[in-house]
Amino acid sequence: MTDTKRVRLPDLDSKKRRGEKIAMLTAYDYTMARIFDRAGIDILLVGDSLGMVVLGYDTTLPVTLDAMVHHARAVSRGVQRALVIADMPFLTYQVGVEEALRNAGRLIQEGGAAAVKIEGAGASLEAVARLVEAGIPVMGHLGLLPQSVHQLGGFRQQARTPQDAEHLLADAHALEAVGAFAIVLESIPAAVAQKVTANLHIPTIGIGAGPHCDGQVLVSYDMLGLSQDAVPSFVRRYADFGEQAVAAAKLYAEDVRMGRFPRVPADLAAGAK
Ligand code: KIV
Repeated sequence: MTDTKRVRLPDLDSKKRRGEKIAMLTAYDYTMARIFDRAGIDILLVGDSLGMVVLGYDTTLPVTLDAMVHHARAVSRGVQRALVIADMPFLTYQVGVEEALRNAGRLIQEGGAAAVKIEGAGASLEAVARLVEAGIPVMGHLGLLPQSVHQLGGFRQQARTPQDAEHLLADAHALEAVGAFAIVLESIPAAVAQKVTANLHIPTIGIGAGPHCDGQVLVSYDMLGLSQDAVPSFVRRYADFGEQAVAAAKLYAEDVRMGRFPRVPADLAAGAK
């Protein structure tokens, strides 16, 4: 039976200590949040990937704070058990720590999220520290940073050289030191993710980072087969809802065009005789 007790931050640490894997998915709306919550997903991430899979942009860069608050509110309304985390979108935490605090506050206060996620270490560390100090839990995000896609030269695997891997490990330690409660590791070699996971007290959540992380996250539209564009090679498709929706919409259109939907009500049919 699925545990119905609300997932809280200390539960994630306990899971890491017990070697229990953490299941996380992205969610962008009320209905999907209810479905994933019923399925027992531990963490729902209102990811700024919504810019790509929901809004049709090429990158996550155009996503606004207002959009994130709007979607976070919808997801929060659908959840009884899962921990809801909202992404801080591009330029909402890089300009200054006071602005970061105000913006994160909106995701918590208006969006109903329990925590926020911030990409990178280095320049982001001050914001992470300030938010944690103010009582706002922060999840870090290292490896492929979609908000830095232009600087990285595309959506490609990171930390491939020993130097880059060491740099990433140092960033992970720095995030842990300023109080991040977990770190997403995106698109890095499995061996690097394994080393980072073994060296941290806080949980790591992998996406395209191999099997050794403390948990896994996928973009829900990718794993459900809803995404109509190419998906990363590490994605496993657990359903083919995109194709099912095309087939259903075709059947519906055919029925409408052939006059098979809606049915003629019985009283009208009788009266017409
Ligand atoms: O926005 C998002 O969906 C994410 C995941 C890839 C972790 O950040």
